[in-house]
This record gives sequence, C-alpha cells and structure tokens, in this order.
Amino acid sequence: MTVKKICCIGAGYVGGPTMAVIAKQCPDIQVTVVDLNEARIAAWNDHDVNKIPVYEPGLSEVVSEARGRNLFFSTDVDQAINEADMIFISVNTPTKTYGAGKGQAADLKWIELCARQIARVSKSDKIVVEKSTLPVRTARTLKDILQHTGNGVKFQILSNPEFLAEGTAVEDLLKPDRVLIGGDQDEEGKKAIEALVNIYAQWVPRERILTTNVWSSELSKLTANAFLAQRVSSINALSELCEHTEADINEVARAIGTDSRIGPKFLKASVGFGGSCFQKDILNLVYIARSYGLTEVADYWEQVIIMNDHQKKRFANKIIKTLYNTVNGKKIAFLGWAFKKDTNDTRESAAIYVADHLLYEQAHVGVYDPKVPEQQVYTDLDYLATRSSDENSKLVQVYNDPYEACKDAHAVAILTEWDEFKHYDWQRIYDNMLKPAHIFDGRNILDKAKLENIGFKICPIGS
Ligand code: NAD
Ligand code: UGA
Repeated sequence: MTVKKICCIGAGYVGGPTMAVIAKQCPDIQVTVVDLNEARIAAWNDHDVNKIPVYEPGLSEVVSEARGRNLFFSTDVDQAINEADMIFISVNTPTKTYGAGKGQAADLKWIELCARQIARVSKSDKIVVEKSTLPVRTARTLKDILQHTGNGVKFQILSNPEFLAEGTAVEDLLKPDRVLIGGDQDEEGKKAIEALVNIYAQWVPRERILTTNVWSSELSKLTANAFLAQRVSSINALSELCEHTEADINEVARAIGTDSRIGPKFLKASVGFGGSCFQKDILNLVYIARSYGLTEVADYWEQVIIMNDHQKKRFANKIIKTLYNTVNGKKIAFLGWAFKKDTNDTRESAAIYVADHLLYEQAHVGVYDPKVPEQQVYTDLDYLATRSSDENSKLVQVYNDPYEACKDAHAVAILTEWDEFKHYDWQRIYDNMLKPAHIFDGRNILDKAKLENIGFKICPIGS
C-alpha cells in the first residue's frame, strides 16, 4: 500500500518537527498536522517562520520549504483524520498527577481521546502509528478502543517511537541512528509495517530501519531513555566524589569515554538532567516494573531519578554554603532557564528546581535565557505551587540582557550550556558584581583559568 495522505495529531515538539521533515523528504505525500490548541496552530501558520512555536536550529527553513506545498497545520482534526491513510498520534503523555499511579504512571487520557476520535470519524481503513512515547502494551488498549467503537473499518497499529533530541531535532530526523517500527507479525501487520518503512526509506538507509514486534518497539523507547539518563546520573554521581578527592570529572569522563565499549557521548557532568521525557519515562518504567511485582527492577531504575534530584539540590546547596550559609536578599543571576541549549523548552529544567530551592532561602533570582520568554519562567515556578504567584514575581526578575541580569549579583549560576555564555565580556560582568564575585558553572562550559584571572571565584561541577 502507498500512503498518500498523513495526519498527525499533536503539533508539539515531536509532531511539528517530525512531520515537517517527512513533508520535506516526501513531496508526494500530503501531511496535515492537527492540534486542539488554536494558538499553537496559528503560530505554526505564522507568516514569519521565526515565530513558529518550537525553536530548533534549521526548523524554520524546513517549514518554509514545505508549508503550503504538502505540509499543513490545522485545527480541523476530524477532517484530517477522515482524509488520511496513516495517522500518527503524537500527543503528550505526561506523568499522572492524580489517582492510581500518581507521580509515576503515564497519563494516557489524551491517547485514549485520540483513539476514540479516530474510531468515530474514520470511514476507511487506516494505519494508526504510535509516535508518542507509551508504556509497553498500549497498542492493546488502542486496538480495543478502535475495534469496539469504530464504524467497522479496519485498523492496523504500529509503534514508531521518536528518538530525536531537542536542540538537534532536524539533524536527528534527517540522519537518524535508526528508525524503529513495530507491528503485528501477521500478513496485514507486515503490510502496514512495509507502508511506513517505504516512507522513511525515501531518505533513511534501509539497514537503519529496524522492524520488530509492537511490544519490543514500545519497550525499547522507554528503555533507550532510561539507559541515556542512567549515564548522566552515573557521571553526576561521580562528580560529587571528584569534588571530595581532587579528581576532575572532565578528566575521568574522558578517560572512561575513550573505552570504545563505553564511548564518549552523554558523559557530561551537569546540574542534573531535565526535559519532558527522561524523568517521565523512567518513572513510567519503574511503575510498570512494580506493577509486575518486580521490586528490584523498579528500585534499580528509580535510583537514576533519586540521583538526579540529589544533583539539583546539591548544586543549590553549594551556592548557599559558599555564600556564607545565607542567600537571604542576595541576588543570584541565572544564565539559562531552558533544560538544554538550542531549545526554548523548559519542561523539567534543572533551573526551575535550583531556583525554587534558593527562593525557599529567600534569595532574589535574576534570570536571562536567550530563547525562553519571561512569562514561561513565572509559569514554571508557579506550577510547583511552593509559594504564591505574587511572591514568585517579587523574588524573581527576568531580563532581556545578560549584563543587566548579572548586575549587582553576588553570584552567577550557569544552568544551561548556551554557547553565547562562553563569549560574554566577563570583565564587564565582574566589574558590575558584588565582591567576592562567584560563578557556579552547572555545565562546566566556562574557561576557569581565564575567569579566575579576572578575579572570579569559580565552582564547577566535579572538580
Ligand atoms: P507537546 O506537549 O509539545 O505536544 C503535544 C501536543 O498534542 C500539544 O500541542 C497538545 O495540544 C496536543 N494534543 C493533546 N491531545 C490532543 C488531542 N486529543 N487532539 C489534538 N491535539 C492534542 O509534547 P511533545 O514534546 O511533542 O511530546 C509528544 C510525545 O512524544 C510524548 O509522548 C513524548 O514523550 C514523546 N517524545 C518527545 C520528545 C521530545 O523531545 N519532546 C522526543 C521523543 C518522544
Ligand atoms: C532525550 C533523548 O536524548 C532522545 O533520544 C529522546 O528522543 C528524548 O529524550 C525524548 O524521548 O524526549 P532530550 O530530552 O530532548 O532527548 O535531550 P537530551 O540531549 O537527551 O538531554 C536531556 C538532559 O540531559 C538535558 O537536561 C541535558 O542537559 C542533560 N545531559 C545530557 C547532561 O546533563 N549530560 C549529558 O552528557 C547529556
């Protein structure tokens, strides 16, 4: 079967970039991305491509090439579903905040809503693709809903998890290490798998397109994130030991990373990992393991999260301790609020938790981030509900200029590894700070020797 029309439900950080790249690479396929969020769809359709809602290097160019040709953004979900041969579900699957599994299990209510809508609207056979990250065996739920509430049309369900990382989404989509497609192993299932393989094969070498059964595919996605996050927690655990032993975590990371069995990537010590997926997916894995009674398996993976929470808190405590055990009324300048560089996404960013801890000690926090809008900073803090919104606005100020953010501060904390931070006029920053002027480099990106020469006191991670 040849797919002519694709619909993607969910125009977020995954749906938007993924569909833009499919549309760019497959000009013969019409791709419509739909979302309930009208403002988000309006932003994707903005004449000024720099105003699309997701910031990713290279994305605005891809969108300008394909938008209006074979890439469309719309709020008419029913129509797009009805016309499509293949429907990607790319909606959010956050951690549950209520009821059974609260704080660990994935909240699948948006997935179920999509399934019910697809079943209600579809008048012809469809291939439904799980693009969202889902607990293993979700395809069973989808099948149940589609078969029992549909109009008698046939559905095939595929799992095609997304492995892109924010900040490098376009590059990851154009040159993926692998594409994973899971489906039923009977004849109809294999045909559906082949239809999706043919789409990716337009630009991805065949040997990089892996096909599996649907359960292996679902579980591989959760597991891939768990393995990646585990590396960050492992190196961060050692960073604390380095700080007590005069070992240097950068040297340790280089030494272990040159072993080809370990490899150099994902061994950067940091203030702690953030992002919308690592924590959510590991907690989900923990929940699944516990629900099968696998206590040791659950405890093992939970430790990755415990270590990460510890790293964020440790960073905040180090600031407090170094500033003579009180930050009350002191200004701490945050450079960076996003969870990593080259994205405007702040979900689960370490900056939020470090700020919250400092605010608890009544510090004043000044924030500068090149891509995060002012309101987002307040929204993130208010969401924690640690204190009133008024208090957050009083204690936190967001700046458009990094030099203003650092002016009159007792300390600067680097929370995100934006490249521009390396090239600032640090002498100018030093001149306008209170002394002793401290820098807490939560990303180990600054030149320690050069800054110490200016007069700064530097606290990196892990040395
Ligand atoms: P997101 O919150 O940015 O986007 C999800 C979108 O779906 C929202 O705009 C929301 O309005 C829309 N939506 C929800 N329910 C809907 C419905 N019933 N009909 C129409 N639209 C609906 O989320 P995201 O970051 O794009 O993540 C989506 C999924 O992809 C998650 O499962 C996530 O775990 C997974 N994932 C994310 C990344 C990443 O880097 N962000 C990478 C790989 C996988
Ligand atoms: C991660 C995975 O890398 C993607 O493969 C996956 O598709 C995605 O999750 C997902 O499922 O959402 P992402 O969260 O966008 O991607 O970003 P990463 O580059 O993985 O970084 C995650 C966090 O770990 C960031 O806060 C980053 O700063 C931190 N990190 C990463 C470190 O502290 N050290 C490192 O060496 C690497």
